[in-house]
Parts: sequence; C-alpha cells; structure tokens
Amino acid sequence: MTSRSRALILSAAAALLFPQSRLPAASHAPVRGRNGMVVSADSLASSAGVSVLRRGGNAVDAAVAVGFALAVTYPEAGNLGGGGFMVIRMAGGESTMIDFREKAPAASTRDMYLDAGGRPIREKSLTGPLAAGVPGTVDGLLTALNEYGSLGREDVIGPSLALADLGFPVTDHLARALGGEIPRFAIFPSSMKTFTRKGRPYRWGDTLRQPDLAVTLRAIMERGAEGFYSGDVAARIVAEVKKDGGIITADDLRDYGSVERDLLVGSYRGYEILTAAPPSSGGVLLLQILNSLERFDLQRLGWNSSGAVHALAGSCQRAFADRSEYLGDPDFVQVPVGELVSKEYSAARLADFDSMRASPSARISSGDPSLADHQTTHYCVADRFGNVVSVTFTLNGLFGCKAVVDGAGFFLNNEMDDFTVKPGALNMFSLVGGARNQIEPRKRMLSSMTPTIVVKDNRPFLVLGARGGSRIPTTVAQIIANVIDFGMNVQEAVDAPRVHHQWIPDTLLYEKRALESDVVRNLGSMGYVLQEVEVTARAEALMIDSAGGWVLGGADPREEGYALGY
Ligand code: GLY
Repeated sequence: MTSRSRALILSAAAALLFPQSRLPAASHAPVRGRNGMVVSADSLASSAGVSVLRRGGNAVDAAVAVGFALAVTYPEAGNLGGGGFMVIRMAGGESTMIDFREKAPAASTRDMYLDAGGRPIREKSLTGPLAAGVPGTVDGLLTALNEYGSLGREDVIGPSLALADLGFPVTDHLARALGGEIPRFAIFPSSMKTFTRKGRPYRWGDTLRQPDLAVTLRAIMERGAEGFYSGDVAARIVAEVKKDGGIITADDLRDYGSVERDLLVGSYRGYEILTAAPPSSGGVLLLQILNSLERFDLQRLGWNSSGAVHALAGSCQRAFADRSEYLGDPDFVQVPVGELVSKEYSAARLADFDSMRASPSARISSGDPSLADHQTTHYCVADRFGNVVSVTFTLNGLFGCKAVVDGAGFFLNNEMDDFTVKPGALNMFSLVGGARNQIEPRKRMLSSMTPTIVVKDNRPFLVLGARGGSRIPTTVAQIIANVIDFGMNVQEAVDAPRVHHQWIPDTLLYEKRALESDVVRNLGSMGYVLQEVEVTARAEALMIDSAGGWVLGGADPREEGYALGY
C-alpha cells in the first residue's frame, strides 16, 4: 500500500471514529470593492492605500503608501526602524519578493548575548539598541516603488507625512498599547518624549502628533533612501544607538541594501502558492505544512475535527523540527529549500505519522506563549489592473527594542532576538535556534513572516498573511485550507478560530471555540498536551472573485483590522 493510500484510509477511519467541531459562528460579510482593496491593521493606513489607488496608483504604490502610513499610525509594529518581506504578483504574471529583512551590524558576534558562563541574557537581545538589526524598511519600500510602482515618492509618502505632522486621533487600541509600555519606555527619554503626554499616557481621542517623524519622512521623500541611511537621520540613529550600548554604525547604515529574490512557488490541491523565501522560514514552513495536509482528506475529516487537527499538528511538528535544523540566511548558509518543499519529502516525513497517536516532540521547557502575538503587522493590496501585493513587516517585539531614535521619531527593532543566540536556546517565540541561524556580521536573522499569494487558473485568488511570530505560517495554512477545503469566504476563513503547534514546546494551542470539548478530550487521549489561548495570530486577507468582478476583504476581528475597497 502506498503511503498516500494509507494516509487516506487512516483519515477516513479517523473521520468515522473521531468527533468533529462545528463550523464557527456566522461572520459578517466580506467588505467588497469593484476596483481594488487594502486590508491592514489600521483604518488610516488602509485609507492612505485606497487614496493612492483612487488616484491611479498601482498595488505596489499603494503598498508603499500603506507601509509608510503604518509607520505613523501603528507604531507598535508599523515602522521605519524594522524590516520585512513584500511579495508581489504583477498582472502579467511576473512575481517577486523584496527582502528588506534587517541585518546584523558588522560588529556583531556569535556570543554577544551570552554571559561569561555561556548563558543567554534575555534582556540583551530584547531591550535597547543592542537588540537592533540594521533597519531595512525604508530601502525595501523604496526599492519596490522604484522597480514596480508608477508614482513618485511625494505621492506615496505625502499622506503619512501629513499624518505625522498634523496628527491623528489616538484609537482605544493605540492608547492601551502605548499606556501599557510606559514602564519600559521610561528607560528611554526619547520614547517618553515621543509617545507620552509629558509622562502621562495618551488617551483615546487625543491627537498624536509626531513632528520628529515628520522630519524623517520629509528627508526620505526628498532624498529617497539616502535621506534615511545617510545625513541627519543616520547620524541620529548612530547617536541613539551609541548612547544606549548598541553597535550599529554609519557604515552599517550606508551599506544596507534590500534584496530582490525569487519567491517560493508551491501548490495546494491545484492552486499555486507564492510565498516568502529564506531568510524567512515562513514560506518553507507553509509549503511543508500544505504538502503534508494535501495527503489528508480534510473535507471528509471535517473542520477542526480530531482527525483534521491531528493531521495539521503532525504536519506542523515535522516542519518546525526542520526549521530549527535547516533554515538560515541563504546568503550565508546552505538551505536545502527545494528538498524541504518537495511533495516527496513531505510524504516521507509522514511515514511515521500514526493516525491514532500524537507524535511526541523532544521535551524542552517552554517559554511564555502569551508573548508571541504582540508584534508584526500584515497587509494586502489589490488594484484594478490585476496586480496584488502581500506585505509583512515588523519591529519584532511590540514597539521593538522600545527605544525611539531621538529627534527622528521612530522605534528601533529588536530583531536580533530572531537569531540563534545559542544553539538549542529558545527565542521570544519559544523557537529553538539551530546553528545555521547563528549570529554573523551582516547576516539576516531567520523570520517566520509569511506574506502569501494564492493563484487559481493563472489569476490571483487569495492574498494573505499574519502577525504572530512562529504562529504566522500555521495561521496562513489554516486560512488557505478554510477557503480551499472548507469553502469558506475570506471573512469566515480569517475569523474561524485556529490552532497552533510548533514542535517545541510540545503543546497544541487552541483559541476559544476552535475545538469542541469532546475534540479536546479526544486529542488529549491521543497524547496531545493542549492549552487554550486567547489568540494564536492575527491575519489580514483579501480574495479576488474574478468571475463576479469583486475584490473581497477579510480583516481580522482579533485586531482592529480594516478592509477598505473602492
Ligand atoms: N520577528 C518575527 C519574525 O520575523 O518572525
């Protein structure tokens, strides 16, 4: 018997034996647009993108405008001081990825976050400018604009400059996010100056003006990437970094360059999947998970049935185990991407999958899973020409390393924590680091960001991604399966409660209402350790109904996501 027929027979048996979850409660209808759509975590940023589309800009122009707007209105993750990945598919079918991941400063060393006894010092890779990689966002957004956009810098940066200069009303979410960080901002006078009202928290409805950030945005608008990576802004970054023990130099900034790379191309049940290549692990994980899931009849098993969740968890465990061993910056280490994402490899990986029992992961003590969802942001854009863009960018932790560059008005990232600080040690997301992801000067740290585009019959069909560190690829996989296997519309697919397993810690996380109580009991008896969490990850997605001529937006109710069509 082939392993595929074995898997199908076992999944059919599981469908009969194991209880199923009911589909989640009704979602509101997706937001509709005839011409285009932006879905992001913030309403002002989505509006900035749609206004660019209305003025005739293409999806890349709008994506760049949304990126700069999020840097103003969504400072917890939108950024100038961080990095990310942009996946683009142009109407003619050309697709690409702009890698603007941060890089380790030239003076960084493998053991820079270890104490004399070789133990990781957690705070060192998390708080303060020593935790920061060389920022990539400005170069990445401007590279995308130059190569694939159609408008000028003024058109795409102007709206965010106005938002920084004139200010905007603080939302309840932003007030709570900023207020909660005041004890940590207090270490950095520039952060207190920029994001508190003379030491008191911003309240809902207050106007947040960011004059320093407006100066930085103006420099970028007038001088392009030079306006950020050299001159006054660069000098301010270096001064801030020096003041608080960091190592980014003027040369690091001048030398930074984003890279256009081939994206990863895979398939799932006849749909083409375009997703992020290394140095993100996200796309590799996504394709590995989907390749494994394809071997199960999910529809027959039923949405979030014990059998379907077992199939997903087993697929995720195996993919994450490979992440730790094989993935790193492809400019520095050999990454066997082709092998990892091949269908044959996934089949072989499932050879020891027991349909009745959980596969035990190695026992390693866990970190704090509640930390994982507070960072990063994803947005998607579709235009009326048939171009689509999927972007995930981040400061890593909420508000990055918590230090605002004095006089320049933006947070620096704490992305260095995404490196392997020490082989076997867990990072902020409880991910186990391997040797290929160890720190080296100018290397990019491994990411889990998974900006993705699903193509059907040679047309873009679904554009999606998520925030949530290690939970991003598992979330993207579930949304794709919700649409393709379970026929959900884009809003239902985003809303549907999710589960997550990342091999280590050996715990199956599930959101409230993701699993019926008998499914929880059943998975427990199969050997899973289960833990209920408020949120696994937060996703933003759009779907293109080519036949009907609609773009449909699905913003995540787990955050104040905002889909805006026109
Ligand atoms: N900083 C989170 C990630 O890149 O996965």
